[in-house]
Amino acid sequence: MFARKVTTSVLGAAQRRTFSASASNLTKVAVLGAAGGIGQPLSLLLKLNPRVSELALYDIKGAPGVAADISHINTKSTVKGYEAGDEIKECLKGAEIVLIPAGVPRKPGMTRDDLFNTNGSIVRDLAKAAAESCPDANILIISNPVNSTVPITAEVFKSKGVYNPKRLFGVTTLDVVRASRFISQLKSTDPANENITVVGGHSGATIVPLLSQAGYTLEGAERDEYVKRVQFGGDEVVQAKGGAGSATLSMAMAGARFAESLLKAAQGQKGVIEPTYVDSPLYKDQGVTYFASNVELGPNGVEKIHPVGKVSEHEQGLLDVCLKDLKTNIEKGEKWVKENM
Ligand code: NAD
Ligand code: LMR
Repeated sequence: MFARKVTTSVLGAAQRRTFSASASNLTKVAVLGAAGGIGQPLSLLLKLNPRVSELALYDIKGAPGVAADISHINTKSTVKGYEAGDEIKECLKGAEIVLIPAGVPRKPGMTRDDLFNTNGSIVRDLAKAAAESCPDANILIISNPVNSTVPITAEVFKSKGVYNPKRLFGVTTLDVVRASRFISQLKSTDPANENITVVGGHSGATIVPLLSQAGYTLEGAERDEYVKRVQFGGDEVVQAKGGAGSATLSMAMAGARFAESLLKAAQGQKGVIEPTYVDSPLYKDQGVTYFASNVELGPNGVEKIHPVGKVSEHEQGLLDVCLKDLKTNIEKGEKWVKENM
């Protein structure tokens, strides 16, 4: 008894969590674009997650180095880096979760849509590889413009006959993280206790925070500044980095949080809900085929898509603008990929 206590007390927290993860929870997670600004800290956070048993890191350059570095961290998971080309097949084989932050980030003055051509091609090619090597994996798209790269991925999976709408997610968690942090700054609350639902998509006016559902009412300039900060939080970081890229560290945290939620749900935890951009019935009648709302996650990916729920008049106005933009972004992605498959 005493010996066991001593043993436990000298373990690091991460190791204790590792030992408490059951042996049946063996999960291979792949990161495509693992040597990038997001990819590196995201891979680091995944290495610290005891629910991950195998970490597969792919990039067109530098993944083996990142993998060697991360592999020295004293948690149980194995880590392997894969080089550009055919190695992606082995990287993806058996993966249950594939996170895709591969692509170019914005510079000041650019919109996310300005990344469309470059990142559309990158995501299309990686989606092809995933559809061939791990058609049943959960695919988590981080590369921008997410509003279009998710439909691009869906079309690739459809073209290969393996599309499962329950397994494709646009990662919009950073918007939730920002919305929660920014309201805590205004209200002097603990950000850890804030969880603001953000619906729509992931760019500018398509990002719609639903403060009223958390019981907050902001008015006038304070409300408009809050909404603008959530919608254009990405620009704040792009400006501050002055041409050196966009959000990487906060995005890594957000991506790791979403992956953790998916893993918890896959491993049997009930009631795991995250807003995420998915193939959604909510606004299909208006031609908006993908939409982020609260989604309950489960062993099969999407368990239940929650409706947007009650919103204020102001939030309804934001939603109307959002839907118009989203439709354009989705149609652009679908049209482009069909012409450039
Ligand atoms: P980065 O340039 O630092 O890293 C991108 C990595 O992708 C690089 O290592 C590069 O070698 C790799 N890469 C490029 N083409 C590849 C390919 N075909 N296969 C595999 N790897 C490839 O960029 P970053 O800052 O990490 O941002 C990556 C993407 O994430 C950008 O598109 C950015 O806009 C987006 N992003 C999304 C969110 C979000 O909330 N969803 C947040 C931040 C950034
Ligand atoms: C973000 O929201 O930070 C990302 O989408 C990156 C960007 O281009 O703003």
